[in-house]
Amino acid sequence: MPVLELRGLSKSFGGLHAVRDVTFKVMPGDRKAIIGPNGAGKTTLFNLITGIFPSSSGQVLLFGKDITAMPSHRRTAMGMSRTFQITSLFPRLTVLDNVLLAIKGLKPSKFVMWRFLSSYKEVYDKAHRLLEQAAFLDRANTEVRYLSHGEQRQLEIVLGLASDPNILLLDEPAAGLSSGESVEMTKFLMRLDPKLAILLIEHDMDVVFDLASSISVLHFGQILETGTPKQIQTSQKVQEIYLGTG
Ligand SMILES: Nc1ncnc2c1ncn2[C@@H]1O[C@H](COP(=O)(O)OP(=O)(O)OP(=O)(O)O)[C@@H](O)[C@H]1O
Ligand SMILES: [Mg+2]
Repeated sequence: MPVLELRGLSKSFGGLHAVRDVTFKVMPGDRKAIIGPNGAGKTTLFNLITGIFPSSSGQVLLFGKDITAMPSHRRTAMGMSRTFQITSLFPRLTVLDNVLLAIKGLKPSKFVMWRFLSSYKEVYDKAHRLLEQAAFLDRANTEVRYLSHGEQRQLEIVLGLASDPNILLLDEPAAGLSSGESVEMTKFLMRLDPKLAILLIEHDMDVVFDLASSISVLHFGQILETGTPKQIQTSQKVQEIYLGTG
């Protein structure tokens, strides 16, 4: 059964058709990328999938269940996780404390109280496991502000894993990274649990071609083409929209 299925999903803002009749499936462990020019509707599509915006028409299914009208937090509880472009890290806390907060879904003010009151072990073990899987254990006690930009972007993804997702939605994880940091990000993403499905929006084609086995090209809100990296690389239509000769 698909982890995620979109059926004829559309979104209009007034007269602007930002997402038009998008249909696709994501199976467990799939690594799928959505590419397309600026303003093509990629982030809007993620906002529909995650329930930030209501869709104008169409359906979103998670494990076969229609979640089109379900609020975001319930989608998270059902196994969908997403990272945001705006950083959600607490720079003056350690890496470990940031992960503990994410697991508990707490803000720093409540966190102190929670640490004081709780037995801690179960949550601590989970944090340890997440950091170990992400190869971050050596930096567990480092304050987040001392991490490099690339490491901070990776840590945001670790926090996204705190809810034990089956599908992870990443909106431009390599945005603002140097080319070296993008390579590290790609390696980091390739180390994640192979059972985890990833839906990725990314402009950095090196990241896309290394990571994704299927790529869909969004153009004016519509899926123009879907294929393997090789098919997309050699597609006449795709070259036309990117080179502006279409
Ligand atoms: N909340 C909103 N209200 C009105 N229009 C919006 C809203 N969000 C997005 N749009 C419009 O929808 C279109 C698609 O925007 P979107 O942000 O989804 O594009 P994108 O593919 O993510 O672009 P980029 O690659 O630049 O991030 C754009 O024309 C944008 O101006
Ligand atoms: Mg966007």
